[in-house]
Amino acid sequence: SIAYLNGEYLPLEEARISPLDRGFLFGDGIYEVIPYYGGKSVGLMPHINRMINGLAAIEIQNTISADDWKALLDDLVARNASQGENLGVYVHVSRGADVKRFHAYPEDVAPTVFAFAFPIKDPQPVDRTKATPMSMISTEDLRWQRCHIKSTALLGNVMHFQQGYAAGCGETLLFNAKGELTEGSSSNAYIVKDGKVITPIQDNQILPGITRRIIIDSLKAEGSIEVEERIVTMDEVREADELWVSSSSKEIAPVTSLDGKPVGNGEIGEVWEKAFKIYSSAKF
Ligand code: PDD
Repeated sequence: SIAYLNGEYLPLEEARISPLDRGFLFGDGIYEVIPYYGGKSVGLMPHINRMINGLAAIEIQNTISADDWKALLDDLVARNASQGENLGVYVHVSRGADVKRFHAYPEDVAPTVFAFAFPIKDPQPVDRTKATPMSMISTEDLRWQRCHIKSTALLGNVMHFQQGYAAGCGETLLFNAKGELTEGSSSNAYIVKDGKVITPIQDNQILPGITRRIIIDSLKAEGSIEVEERIVTMDEVREADELWVSSSSKEIAPVTSLDGKPVGNGEIGEVWEKAFKIYSSAKF
């Protein structure tokens, strides 16, 4: 596996950073995960733009233009072709290594830029009788109030993911103190009711997912499935016909069990199949 670190390509196992790096000490950084299928990226420019916006939000200087980011990541994928057809790229920019551990943003410290590629699963079959469903548990969202920033400080997400994982589930569904759906611990969430797709509005409680954007835009463009962005209560989730989560690594994952109870009739839904078909033909 060939990695990129601070302007150089090198074998991943040879990549080294300082233990004083603020990414390590404080989780002080921004990251992205971008999928490539057969060498073709999904949502690459939106991912790059989200990263550039995230870096600006936490005042880390970005010296690489959007076009240069694109060239860099495409190059990394090309150099890792031997790893397989389908690759995910992890990109991470931290505030860099300071000589002292001091909370304030340091001046004159160069950010650490790191990226590597890893194999990802083939897309699911679009046929709902052949696709693999997911089970979830739900719990109160105990992360921070800035979930729109794709921070490398993921302990809140990791602890929530682990709750579901320990219960034999593939993801954990989160709701706020008002009993409103936010998202999954590493994915965005959707319900289907009476044929309509409903997903929480994009605010500080959720990550503005790139997969979410492609799903909403492609469904709206195709026109046969109605999509609504609004507050979704957990009561609505429990009465939903279908439940899905989305992310760059999961695409659209159908959820058929929530807290040990079937979602809808307990089978992967028809709207999932239609939506996944539309998404799959629009994603590149
Ligand atoms: N997770 N919400 C959270 C909290 C996430 O961590 C992610 C992505 C998403 C989906 O965003 P996108 O569609 O842009 O991947 C939503 C990535 C894949 C991860 O941490 O591995």
